Amino acid sequence: MGYEVLTGPEVEEEKYNFEMMNLPKDHPARDMQDTFYLTNDILMRTQTSPMQARTLEKHDFSQGPLKMISPGIVYRRDTDDPTHSHQFHQVEGLVIDEHITMADLKGTLITMTHEIFGDKFDIRLRPSYFPFTEPSVEVDVTCFNCMGKGCDVCKHTGWIEVLGAGMVHPNVLKMAGVDPDVYGGFAFGLGPDRFAMLQYGVTDIRDFYLNDVRFLNQFDKRSN
Ligand code: PHE
Repeated sequence: MGYEVLTGPEVEEEKYNFEMMNLPKDHPARDMQDTFYLTNDILMRTQTSPMQARTLEKHDFSQGPLKMISPGIVYRRDTDDPTHSHQFHQVEGLVIDEHITMADLKGTLITMTHEIFGDKFDIRLRPSYFPFTEPSVEVDVTCFNCMGKGCDVCKHTGWIEVLGAGMVHPNVLKMAGVDPDVYGGFAFGLGPDRFAMLQYGVTDIRDFYLNDVRFLNQFDKRSN
């Protein structure tokens, strides 16, 4: 679909992780992501979203639209339990051009869902909040276990939350030197660990990081 795939630093500047993502120093939403700070200005990135600021800052729009995917590891000061890990993966997506709408976001998410899970899976968007998108949505996919009927896995809703997304906030564009009166678009961030847990029936996220070869070998194509 014409996206470039870029990776960025896991040891990140506070400026890109928070400030340029419209999260100024006193913003209460910084509490949504407990952070490992290395110094006052350097931290372990809590999200792949700083790659939005990094690519926006560099992109030359006279060469065409910006379409970027950025996979990588992120870190949060969470207490580890079966559904939380202090390190996990995210995949960021960003599309910026002159006439991008929320319908483009929804179409992209539907295409992605069908590619990953199959045509029988649907999505629904729920209003949400992220400081760097407005409006913001949380995206649910049809529960893989009951195909929407309702079961224990989806807490009897028929849906499972898999990603956050929204239309890029004008402040994010402005701070990266992009004119929000001309350009705009959407961003999304999904958690592949969650996807993998759902798809392979993994019940403890910590299994991905413990390096137990009996667990890892199940996913090694060479040994299967
Ligand atoms: N960075 C957000 C998070 O970690 C996810 C997100 C990405 C939301 C892009 C909107 C747009 O929760």
